[in-house]
Amino acid sequence: MFKPMAEVAASRTVDLYVDGRLIQANPDQTLALALMEAGVSPIRHTAVSGAPRAPLCLMGVCFDCLVQVDGRANVQACMVKVSAGMRVVLQHGARALEPQA
Ligand code: FES
Repeated sequence: MFKPMAEVAASRTVDLYVDGRLIQANPDQTLALALMEAGVSPIRHTAVSGAPRAPLCLMGVCFDCLVQVDGRANVQACMVKVSAGMRVVLQHGARALEPQA
């Protein structure tokens, strides 16, 4: 009648790519959580000192989870949900400005 939440979550996964590496994640979770569950760390390096960073607040405040998603730079991984075929590139160093359309 009822299924454990872990069993339900494990039954629904999508494929996404992080720096070309395939990982699987539940489409109901945020990208930051998917990256942490896949053992991706650090997620970025700071522009000035090159210090490693990983998601901290998980609510859009600290900006320690910035990644490139499907060609769009400086996306907060904690503020977007995982989607099938998502292509994530980890950011290292200074932020890049997006090209003008
Ligand atoms: S983890 Fe803090 S803004 Fe994403």
